[in-house]
Amino acid sequence: MAGTVLIVGGTAGIGRDLANHYAGQGRPVVLTGRDATTAAKVASEVGGGAQGLALDLSKPTEIAGNLAGLGPVDHVVLAAIDRDANHVKTYDIAAAVHLVTLKLVGYTEVVHTLADRLTGQGSILLFGGQARLRPYPGSTTVSSINAGVVGMVRTLSVELAPVRVNSIHPGIVGDSPFWAGKPLDAVVANTLTGRLATMDEVVRASVFLLENGGVNGVDLVVDGGWR
Ligand SMILES: NC(=O)c1ccc[n+]([C@@H]2O[C@H](COP(=O)([O-])OP(=O)(O)OC[C@H]3O[C@@H](n4cnc5c(N)ncnc54)[C@H](OP(=O)(O)O)[C@@H]3O)[C@@H](O)[C@H]2O)c1
Repeated sequence: MAGTVLIVGGTAGIGRDLANHYAGQGRPVVLTGRDATTAAKVASEVGGGAQGLALDLSKPTEIAGNLAGLGPVDHVVLAAIDRDANHVKTYDIAAAVHLVTLKLVGYTEVVHTLADRLTGQGSILLFGGQARLRPYPGSTTVSSINAGVVGMVRTLSVELAPVRVNSIHPGIVGDSPFWAGKPLDAVVANTLTGRLATMDEVVRASVFLLENGGVNGVDLVVDGGWR
């Protein structure tokens, strides 16, 4: 029987759509957000017996306790993000420490906590993003952490072998809750497909990375050919 899929950052956006996908396949799903009530509500909306769990990646010393009740896991998806705008000329140290902790230390601590609970089919998917290569005003920390995800894939795939570790780097996902309705014509004009990648396309690429046993240590770009 197919085992549990843990989706950290599964209460909204792409993580939530991945939770919907796996619950729809009859897989046991555990999704997380910062607030227990919200996570439980989203889990019940996702259905299929999905469970919600509270976990704040910006408090990494609490993560092991947050995950103490979780059993064996097949797939770990690390999709959480807190939105941020930070410029080096007006650098906000507290905001930078918060986001670096969340994405780099928090993601790694989840993996550390669950390393012994990953099953034989185990795989891990880390979410980065194309801001790592295409900065925009205010992306100082976002570009840095998304580039950091590439380094995490390198070391984690080696340290956890044979567990597979991959990352996905979407461009701007036009129909995601954060971007929907915002003016994105300039990005579309610089995308070879003439449109932005969609939530559904990112979900399907995520499933490929999680499930294809031959794919390991890959940093997959899903951006329609953003120039
Ligand atoms: N959307 C895009 O266009 C795009 C582009 C490139 C890369 N990405 C990447 O794709 C991933 C998903 O993006 P998205 O737009 O779908 O995200 P989203 O809709 O903003 O959802 C973010 C998720 O992260 C959780 N979260 C926020 N702060 C957290 C914290 N401190 N600890 C734990 N969880 C926390 C939120 O849960 P609660 O609010 O319930 O706590 C929510 O489930 C992110 O890693 C993002 O960087 C997205």
